[in-house]
Amino acid sequence: APNRSPDRSIALVGLMGAGKSTVGQKLAAKLALPFVDADTEIERAARLDIPSLFERYGEAAFRDCERRVIARLAGGPVQVIATGGGAFVDEATRRLLLARCHVLWLDAPVERLAARVGRRGGRPLLDGRDTIEALESLAAARTRYYAEAHIRIDASEDRDETVARILAALP
Ligand code: S3P
Repeated sequence: APNRSPDRSIALVGLMGAGKSTVGQKLAAKLALPFVDADTEIERAARLDIPSLFERYGEAAFRDCERRVIARLAGGPVQVIATGGGAFVDEATRRLLLARCHVLWLDAPVERLAARVGRRGGRPLLDGRDTIEALESLAAARTRYYAEAHIRIDASEDRDETVARILAALP
């Protein structure tokens, strides 16, 4: 059955490699909604790519920028928003997203996440570390926050399957 247009934006949260950006693009196309990637918006606002932002100003400055950008996106028209993996850990961002959006946690085993992030660099929190170990420690610290999402989606299969699961789960 065709999904109605959602009444709120859809925010995708979860660890790096969960597929937030690729799934988000496809989902937005299916729902005929705009798609926006918070990381890309941060890079645009800061006029720096994320690794440079971390390197020059540190993670705390990146998080400040991320909080402001997501507040703007969540206050905008209904759209599909892919957030960076750490965004939903921030309390202010989490509260805002939970109040304004349908928040979907894309959840997948660390091995699957690792296989996906292997294909793209530019993630300062993984640089120079064993990917599985780094993702495991992030998962240990973050799962309790992701679990506050409105809906948990099993994102261990491919993008099309994940999109189908989301469409079936949306209210
Ligand atoms: C981060 C995830 C990245 C990006 C930054 C920090 C994190 O986004 O925001 O490197 O803290 O998990 P993706 O989840 O899109 O890779």
